[in-house]
Amino acid sequence: MSIQTIKDVDLSGKRVLVRCDFNVPLKNGVITDDSRIDAAIPTIQYLVDQSARVILCSHLGRPKGQQVAEMSLAPVAEALSSKMKLPVTFIEDCIGPEVEQEVAKIGEGEIALLENVRFYSAEEANGVEFAASLAELADAYVNDAFGTAHRAHASTHGVTKHLSPCVSGFLIEKELAYLGEKTANPERPFTVILGGAKVSDKIQVIDALLEKADTIIIGGAMAYTFALAEGRTIGESLSEPDYIETAKSALEKAKAKGVRFILPLDNLGVKDLDFGAGTFNDPKYFEGNIEDGWEGVDIGPKSIALFKEVVASAKTVLWNGPMGIFEIDACNKGTFAVAETIAESDAISIIGGGDSVKAIKMSGFSDSVTFMSTGGGASLEFLEGKVLPGVDALDKKA
Ligand code: 3PG
Repeated sequence: MSIQTIKDVDLSGKRVLVRCDFNVPLKNGVITDDSRIDAAIPTIQYLVDQSARVILCSHLGRPKGQQVAEMSLAPVAEALSSKMKLPVTFIEDCIGPEVEQEVAKIGEGEIALLENVRFYSAEEANGVEFAASLAELADAYVNDAFGTAHRAHASTHGVTKHLSPCVSGFLIEKELAYLGEKTANPERPFTVILGGAKVSDKIQVIDALLEKADTIIIGGAMAYTFALAEGRTIGESLSEPDYIETAKSALEKAKAKGVRFILPLDNLGVKDLDFGAGTFNDPKYFEGNIEDGWEGVDIGPKSIALFKEVVASAKTVLWNGPMGIFEIDACNKGTFAVAETIAESDAISIIGGGDSVKAIKMSGFSDSVTFMSTGGGASLEFLEGKVLPGVDALDKKA
């Protein structure tokens, strides 16, 4: 059942508490990636245009109930104000009588941002009183924090028990449309590219996508566990021996369902890898088996060519997880080639959040994809088919 959005209710003149995911990376107080701020703006602008009194809240980092100056949302208020070319009042706390007084001064079409809700441990504990105090500040609730929708916290879940209406913003609506509807009823062929380090992290996503996809391509360190399942040798590559049986049954399931399941044909292997220093010795491509002493760090040219061919004929592509250690220049060819292939394809392209979004941005191809999720854990849980508590708590459409 679909949820109500800000378009379904009249919020004009109302005090609207908007949960955003402003959990942005900061380095020495400077925001190093502002895409989550950009993604929140359409909803905020719409509420401003509707003459709502906009009270934004978010978490930043994991301060564990402490006031940590480096995790203040003050830099976000500044960035948001300069992007929207509107004043954003920053309120140095998120609950209590003083905050209520500050919020009372917010006029129609004006914006305030509260301080980090995780400065209170009751936020993550979904404390009833804390949720009620947040709700005191508003007449209505909008959740647009897709990246935090997998958390049943006070500002994403508990607060909905005290306010009405509770609806989604445009970002959550868009995330659900791309990660949900467009993959549930995809234009076919539907190709999924999965990477990352661990089968254990992705097996539920693989299981869920085996029901929907025509082809599943596997890369990244996860592929070495699948290589073991196929009886190949992987040298010193990362693997999860406990998951070999799981990988085998995924391969069998794919066969039974007629889903094409593609593993890398070749890999770049190195010796003496030092991830921190970004150094290694003896790089060499291996077709099939990787020799003892070498560790797989990327897919090779034959895999890239095959993956390109498959993606070229797809009508929908979903990508989640890098093909290798893309943080090291010499090991990023496979990941960046996948990014380029997806960017060049005419298919609906959906980047499922986390490291793949980071990788596609680093590769310079992020402007050419249809949709990039702002979620990390939330995207994965949603792709696994799990109910997101922050979405489930919102009002349903009749
Ligand atoms: C994220 O960055 O994935 C979200 O903001 C959620 O953050 P969390 O994992 O600290 O709950």
